[in-house]
Amino acid sequence: MRMYDLIIKKRNGETLSEEEIKYMIAEYTADRIPDYQMSAMMMAIYFQGMSAEETVALTMAMAHSGEMLDLSAISGIKVDKHSTGGVGDKTSIALTPMVAACGVKIAKMSGRGLGHTGGTIDKLESFEGFTTGISTEHFMKQVNEIGVSIMGQTMNIAPADKKLYALRDVTATVDNMSLIASSIMSKKLAAGADAIVLDVKTGSGAFMKKEEDAFALAKEMVTLGNMAGRHTIAVVSDMDQPLGYAVGNALEVEEAIATLRGEGPEDFTKLCMTLGTYMLIAGGVADNEDIAGRMLSDVIKNGSALRKLADFVAAQGGNAKAVYDTSLLPKASITEEILSEKAGYVKKIDCDEIGICSLILGGGRETKESVIDLSVGMILHKKVGDFVQTGESLATVYANDRDKLEVAKERFLKAYHFDERQPEKLPFIKGVIRQ
Ligand code: URA
Repeated sequence: MRMYDLIIKKRNGETLSEEEIKYMIAEYTADRIPDYQMSAMMMAIYFQGMSAEETVALTMAMAHSGEMLDLSAISGIKVDKHSTGGVGDKTSIALTPMVAACGVKIAKMSGRGLGHTGGTIDKLESFEGFTTGISTEHFMKQVNEIGVSIMGQTMNIAPADKKLYALRDVTATVDNMSLIASSIMSKKLAAGADAIVLDVKTGSGAFMKKEEDAFALAKEMVTLGNMAGRHTIAVVSDMDQPLGYAVGNALEVEEAIATLRGEGPEDFTKLCMTLGTYMLIAGGVADNEDIAGRMLSDVIKNGSALRKLADFVAAQGGNAKAVYDTSLLPKASITEEILSEKAGYVKKIDCDEIGICSLILGGGRETKESVIDLSVGMILHKKVGDFVQTGESLATVYANDRDKLEVAKERFLKAYHFDERQPEKLPFIKGVIRQ
């Protein structure tokens, strides 16, 4: 087999066989196919697309390119959760203890973030001493004992995807549905859970700006997961404005804690309840949505979800006292209000722009080497549909550098759009895909 022939085949719109895809991925992972040939192939796929069979073959080949984690030492059904990402997405921090408090085992691998704010791991490091650099033995034992653990993706999980994703990132070939679906699902399949609940975001702060694209991606990933024998469900949710009110690592942790106390923002609470419901059903502890919803409400009301977060933080070396006393989380030295220069109903918020403001303040990474400032970010006071008077505060900014604060403020103000009429409230959960 020659890569050159496979490139011609795909360029001409033909279908690659499973053997050809396996060959291409194995050889590329082993550095026997150069980046320039793989770039040509990615571009050919970008224009010609992939059939359902090709996408399955690509996903499985990438999943098997490294270690396939064996979680059988953990008793019961293991459920994983994945979000396609967005601004203010602190879901795993509240959701995983909620679900674990209901008796479902969460053995999750997470990454650090590149972009707006940190990833789940960065956010969790707001608890002093918290580490995800734990051994597989520690990970398994912790899940068996307290029902939840999150470890860093330090293992050799889907190395083909790691290489290919870096290549796609610099060759303008990221946004192809089959390539995104196979990239995400190869990592999820290799991470070993029995069931996977996906949170596919749509809107101005999401990968998938258009709702129809988010649904298509959700369907594709659900099909891939189920074909691979993992019970997979996807929820399509709104990311046309930041999730909740907090954007920034420690600020988001504080909002997740408030949510576990039953004092969370409406949209974020709704998301945790919806994803949690499907995780409880997939985990076999609830038969239907009503029962699952009641169980999740109970663990918030009786404090067991909050205690689970404290147990989880302590088990991974973090200062669990901060769960009950959030003044122990990292704090910024400057706090300032952003006052509205206009009056009217908030019609639209450029969600990506809010993320960039957090990045400017130092809350995200521009490069893999950047060091994140966990304390900075903003708390929004106004979201779409709210009425604002001129001079009223749109948000409180938390910063450690006055110059960065000024740049972020200016950009923040431009991200808000107003109208005289109150905009129609659109549903936050757009739909659920399951087979
Ligand atoms: N996230 C991934 O892991 N892969 C993609 O291709 C896009 C988003």
